[in-house]
Amino acid sequence: MRDTTLKLLLLALVSGSIIAASATVGASKQDLPDGPGAEIARNRCTTCHEADLIVSQRLSRQGWTREVEKMIRWGAVVPDAEKERLIDYLSAGFPVRKAGAQQAQSIERGKAVFEQRCTVCHESDLTEQQRLTRQGWTREVEKMIRWGAVVPDSDKQALIDYLSAGFGLRPLKK
Ligand code: HEC
Ligand code: HEC
Repeated sequence: MRDTTLKLLLLALVSGSIIAASATVGASKQDLPDGPGAEIARNRCTTCHEADLIVSQRLSRQGWTREVEKMIRWGAVVPDAEKERLIDYLSAGFPVRKAGAQQAQSIERGKAVFEQRCTVCHESDLTEQQRLTRQGWTREVEKMIRWGAVVPDSDKQALIDYLSAGFGLRPLKK
């Protein structure tokens, strides 16, 4: 079964219709989550393609407005009376990721980088007892790299995010 899926995916890659093929082959057929307006989306938006295409998008309200207009041009039938409610549903359910969530993701990744790259020569306590500003941690990471730590450029920001969030300067206790 896995084999067939893989072959189909490869085929799709080769033929260039990746999204369409993997959406029908993939095991992760997702439905549209409940919420105000969900019925409209189910009625109007899943006749030509699966819900996956919608669920995997992240757009602003403006982006969803444009996307709905585009689908209407492509043949979707959405009466004017339903349009606002549909756009409300899509913008609430599939919004652009919040900066906070992105930050949390970066910190999470930085922790893995730390565990992999920064405990090679010494224990993590040397790091954990430090309290530095973001600038201070940036300097410290550069210093460790000069001293021999291996941190790919693509991992540096995440690592610094993790260090600044976890071992930053704290306000003095009252
Ligand atoms: C008349 C057929 C049809 C209907 C109905 C339809 N779509 Fe689509 N949609 C398409 C096609 C064709 C694509 C390109 C699909 C592909 O790559 O498989 C697409 C792709 C998408 C994508 C992926 C991004 C993009 O623009 O290619 C999103 C998101 C999407 N549709 C949302 C919606 C929403 C929301 C609705 C309900 C208003 C809707 N669709 C209704 C035909 C339709
Ligand atoms: C190639 C070896 C090596 C690697 C890898 C390494 N360090 Fe160090 N680090 C050192 C040495 C040597 C010291 C000085 C140690 C001592 O005092 O015992 C040190 C000390 C430190 C200190 C104490 C303050 C200072 O500057 O002396 C901190 C904080 C620190 N390292 C953080 C890190 C972080 C974060 C990483 C991951 C990017 C890292 N280290 C990776 C070698 C390394």
